[in-house]
Amino acid sequence: MSGSALYETFARAPLAFERGEGSWLVTEKGERYLDFAAGIAVNSLGHGHPHLVAALKDQAEKLWHVSNLYEIPGQRRLGERLVEATFADKVFFTNSGAEALECAIKTARRYQFVTGHPERFRVITFEGAFHGRTLATIAAGGQYKYLEGFGPKVDGFDQVPFDDIDAAEKAITPETAAILLEPLQGEGGIRSFPLQSLKRLRQLCDKHGLLLIFDEVQCGIGRTGKLFAHEWAGVTPDLMAIAKGIGGGFPMGACLATDEAARGMTAGVHGTTFGGNPLAMAVGNAVLDVVLEEGFLEDVNRKALLFKQGLAAVADEFPDVIEGIRGDGLMLGIKCVMPNGTVNGALRDQHLLAVPAGDNVIRLLPPLTVTDADIQEGLKRLRSAAKGLSEAVAAAAK
Ligand SMILES: Cc1ncc(COP(=O)(O)O)c(C=O)c1O
Repeated sequence: MSGSALYETFARAPLAFERGEGSWLVTEKGERYLDFAAGIAVNSLGHGHPHLVAALKDQAEKLWHVSNLYEIPGQRRLGERLVEATFADKVFFTNSGAEALECAIKTARRYQFVTGHPERFRVITFEGAFHGRTLATIAAGGQYKYLEGFGPKVDGFDQVPFDDIDAAEKAITPETAAILLEPLQGEGGIRSFPLQSLKRLRQLCDKHGLLLIFDEVQCGIGRTGKLFAHEWAGVTPDLMAIAKGIGGGFPMGACLATDEAARGMTAGVHGTTFGGNPLAMAVGNAVLDVVLEEGFLEDVNRKALLFKQGLAAVADEFPDVIEGIRGDGLMLGIKCVMPNGTVNGALRDQHLLAVPAGDNVIRLLPPLTVTDADIQEGLKRLRSAAKGLSEAVAAAAK
């Protein structure tokens, strides 16, 4: 037996943080780390944002929880605001990204069921996808490492190579209900679908009577410089799963749908105990107050450009460490030459937190509220890490 009472499912770094301030995390010993992981795109407004703290405190003093058997005014308000800001007409609140995806998949199947196509239940997904860790979402993600040992893969998911739209078309059968994708893959290694591919997928879905589902759990809520990443392509989905950034650190998610797509989701067919709870709704509304403020997203775009240019300069200086920079907005990836775990360790030694991803990439996901000075500090630390790694490579070659 190991010394911990916890499941050994996480490869945890030996670090425990006591508090956070903006883009910074502080350990129990008072050591400061620049947090460009942001809880894997969760802490959209950084740590301890005064507006979020006030909203949560205020709600905590009034009411923590009531069941969805009753009206929840904060839920109604957040739903209306999400509808107002997006393609959607309807919202279902969840506690996590995976649950938002479950709701989207169920909604798509129900839509086909109630519109006379009960045989249509399959969903086409793309290699490199990550949609969560429930039994259905590991099947949707299709990655063997997450499926192994958990019994038969949940039926109903067909995977095609990343961004292979011809293969997606070929994979459509009379049983297909929907196509599901992250417009910008996170766990898969910061890989974006070209805008043209998103347009083609929309056309494919329209032609074959399928629903288009976007998973914006990681790339949504301002991450790419628009409220949602798909806005860059000018296409809209029928369903969208969101989570992470909308809660700013409070666990919550949502499934957004058009009226048409939500046709089958009638009283009693789906439910949740905690989803849309007053505490989560207070924080979600407070996050939107900030992200929808005039000029907020423009500033994200400005900072993203600054950051990406700085990253490209470091990549040019150390081509033996960094192969290239990818991604959009403040969802950026460093494609590494050496194993990404080594690079991530070197960044951590510089007290810069980042997140490894697939395709040998390190993700940089600073809070959207990151300051210019924090960006410069992050670039300085990245350069020091890259310099150390480059020197080590040169020494080993001698
Ligand atoms: C794109 C995407 N979808 C779904 C999920 C699952 O979200 P959760 O861990 O909140 O269930 C994640 C989590 O990393 C994600 O990045």
